[in-house]
Amino acid sequence: MSTRPESLATVTDIDCTGQTALVTGSTSGIGRVAAYALGRLGAEVIVHGRDREAGEAVVEGIREEGGEAAFVAADFTEAAAIRTLAETVRTETDGLDLLLNNAGGLFREGRLVEGIERTFYVNHLAPYLLTAELLDHLREDARVVTMASDAHRGAELDLDRVRTVDGYSGMGAYAHSKLANVLFASELARRLDAAGRPAVSNSLHPGFVPGSQFGRFLPGPLSGLFQMLGVVPGTSSVADGAAELLHVAVSPDTADVSGRYFSGQSPTTPAAAARDRAAAERLWHRSAELLGMDVPLSDAVSGSAATDAS
Ligand SMILES: NC(=O)c1ccc[n+]([C@@H]2O[C@H](COP(=O)([O-])OP(=O)(O)OC[C@H]3O[C@@H](n4cnc5c(N)ncnc54)[C@H](OP(=O)(O)O)[C@@H]3O)[C@@H](O)[C@H]2O)c1
Repeated sequence: MSTRPESLATVTDIDCTGQTALVTGSTSGIGRVAAYALGRLGAEVIVHGRDREAGEAVVEGIREEGGEAAFVAADFTEAAAIRTLAETVRTETDGLDLLLNNAGGLFREGRLVEGIERTFYVNHLAPYLLTAELLDHLREDARVVTMASDAHRGAELDLDRVRTVDGYSGMGAYAHSKLANVLFASELARRLDAAGRPAVSNSLHPGFVPGSQFGRFLPGPLSGLFQMLGVVPGTSSVADGAAELLHVAVSPDTADVSGRYFSGQSPTTPAAAARDRAAAERLWHRSAELLGMDVPLSDAVSGSAATDAS
């Protein structure tokens, strides 16, 4: 694969030596290119996904370029697997500088996993749980970056629907999960800040990136069409998407920025539904409840006004 695309030029001079980065969903697409780039910048990269063969190939590729990497498999439809991933990271590393919550997808068929709609689980609850499990392992100036999407625009937070697939729409569920990503990232930023922790949290839209494996979740003909759109002017290449992610993750320009949604390498105003503080707090509490866990960075620590878990 091409691992040195021009669009990554903006981050080639950054030195990440001594840093440890976990890139979820780095067996393909945007995450894979970002993992390669981080390896070249000197970071020790933890590559994640379900596909062991693809993950090991990324690790080998990073090592061939002189970097350090290891693969950890975890299926984001299983809380136990997410907890095991976090445990491995805690055991195998001294601390985490970069947590890139990138794994995600758009699923054609509605399915419940652990009693919860799959898209909401994989795209939102999984990074919520993983981040919570790694909070105490984050280095002081860590950056948490959550991959959202402009698809969140038009969605409204509806936490009553996350336990059903009645009337399921893949795009609707995807947009809702991406709204949750933006709300999660900004609420995490607020709670880290309130707890006096300098670590930052942001989310982003990587552009429309048809060249990744994202389209594999679409029905047969649409999947091929989606990939072909990669050659249409105006769409972003996978490297462009990775450059967007890395700008938020490692650029000195974004080191002190927290609670923002990026698009086109700039902080951008997300939809009104993604700026709703009360909704973000509701999501934070309900996510913990759905996962049967204590509320991370609890209100007592963060000074949040929310007490309602519904
Ligand atoms: N492509 C776009 O136009 C676009 C636009 C906006 C936002 N995004 C977002 O960008 C992120 C990366 O997408 P991409 O375009 O690079 O797609 P991709 O090539 O399909 O990559 C998705 C990654 O997520 C992992 N993943 C999917 N389901 C998983 C599960 N159940 N458990 C663990 N890992 C899982 C995949 O790994 P395995 O297959 O090995 O499990 C893969 O590494 C996603 O969050 C997506 O929503 C993409």
